[in-house]
Amino acid sequence: MKQIQPTAFLNNQPYYEVTMIQTMKKLHRDLPPTKIWGYNGEYPGPTFRVWRNQPIHVLWKNELPLKHFLPIDTTVHGAEKDKPEVRTVVHLHGGVTPDTSDGYPEAWFTRGFKEVGPYFTNEIYTYPNQQKATSLWYHDHAMGITRLNIYAGLAGLYIIHDEEEMNLDLPKFPFEIPLIIQDRSFHRDGSLLYPSQPEIPVPGVDPSVIPDFFAETIVVNGKVWPYIEVDPRLYRLRILNGSNARFYRLSLSNGAPFIQIGTDQGLLASPVEVPHLLLAPAERADVLVDLRSFHGETITMMNDAESPFPQGTKPDPETAGSVMQFRVSSKPSALATCSIPNQLTHIPKLKEKQSHKTRKLLLNTRSDSYGRSIHLLNDRLWVEPISEDPRLWSVEVWSLVNVTKATHPIHLHMVRFQVLDRQPFDEEKYEEEGKIVPTGPRRPPDPNEQGWKDTVRANPKEITRIIVPFGPYSGLFVWHCHILEHEDYEMMRPYYVIS
Ligand code: C2O
Ligand code: CU
Ligand code: CU
Repeated sequence: MKQIQPTAFLNNQPYYEVTMIQTMKKLHRDLPPTKIWGYNGEYPGPTFRVWRNQPIHVLWKNELPLKHFLPIDTTVHGAEKDKPEVRTVVHLHGGVTPDTSDGYPEAWFTRGFKEVGPYFTNEIYTYPNQQKATSLWYHDHAMGITRLNIYAGLAGLYIIHDEEEMNLDLPKFPFEIPLIIQDRSFHRDGSLLYPSQPEIPVPGVDPSVIPDFFAETIVVNGKVWPYIEVDPRLYRLRILNGSNARFYRLSLSNGAPFIQIGTDQGLLASPVEVPHLLLAPAERADVLVDLRSFHGETITMMNDAESPFPQGTKPDPETAGSVMQFRVSSKPSALATCSIPNQLTHIPKLKEKQSHKTRKLLLNTRSDSYGRSIHLLNDRLWVEPISEDPRLWSVEVWSLVNVTKATHPIHLHMVRFQVLDRQPFDEEKYEEEGKIVPTGPRRPPDPNEQGWKDTVRANPKEITRIIVPFGPYSGLFVWHCHILEHEDYEMMRPYYVIS
């Protein structure tokens, strides 16, 4: 992936321009070119590399066609017939960004800013970059069509560096490799396939939104099932699950573990060895992989996560069960020394007693008037009045009670949080009496979740509690499930930080 360079300075700070365009890209040797939408015509978009405390400005421009090439469901809120078909707005996922630059779903704009959504305020976005070093990603967030815009190609990486991370002497380019993992399906002619109906078609709606989409081909950094040539040494992989709905449980065919050093929002306190790395859509893992004793070997990165997760089917090892390959060269590497630090950073552990308020928030479903299931946050639709309104600088515990059948990756804009615990509850008692009755103790988060997060897996039949300091900005943001089909179809809510 290309790295983007600023083209000018604004207030003495780097200024970038990024143009969304439609183009053709060859994603595999045996596949005809694929029509994609790319930031600067790239898929994935160009990578930003910025420094902590060095703000930047970006003008995101839309020069896309006026017609979408993927199926829009006009019964979905925000995507109705009276709205322009092709709307875009860019969100920096995990960015601690003021609301006017956060990419609110209704702050969309069309080609040349000809039409704008009701919450649009400014063309140029500013990213303060005051947060710790980590891998963020930017992607489209337009109301009701996010799943289609991202599937078409509108996503890229945004890496923040800082002194603390630099001083750790971790592998650097070309031994630091970002991996954006996505699933895509193709028609024979190379074009992207996105279903216009669920498996059992919906009478009266065409095209219709589907409950979730699992494609059968894995695309890494815009290439179908790629391999990369590597040296027998230590590598740093910044892994992003950029898929619409697919979870990945990654492992390496040679049995080598991932040594995880960072989560969504930066370094862990100390490295954690993980033989299987589970990533829900939008989650990131910063890992080290030690290839020093694998000269000449070909290592496959495999995936065995069920879809839907966790109660669905395992992927076929021939299709979505394989992700990519590392071909390790047989020559011993010259500079093979690169040690793994024992200590990475300090993470103050937030305690429940520090919180000012607890909110119990249901993750549930309902049927719409066509008999389709709608996923909801606390049984509320997007258009209902704001219900989550934390005070600036307050600390809240959000208790996510998942009464659905699937794991939902819940993401909050602007903030970072910690996972407190997960606790099972009695599903039958809930179905019969509507009561949440715990059936076991609270479990601490997994060792590789004990850092700062911006997306958390809320499992079915569990209460997942997160603790969230609301700051540094007040204003209007959103929280949502990051399964894009859920996000687009009502599993998203505005929230307001009151100053
Ligand atoms: Cu990647 Cu609103 O999210
Ligand atoms: Cu986000
Ligand atoms: Cu969901």
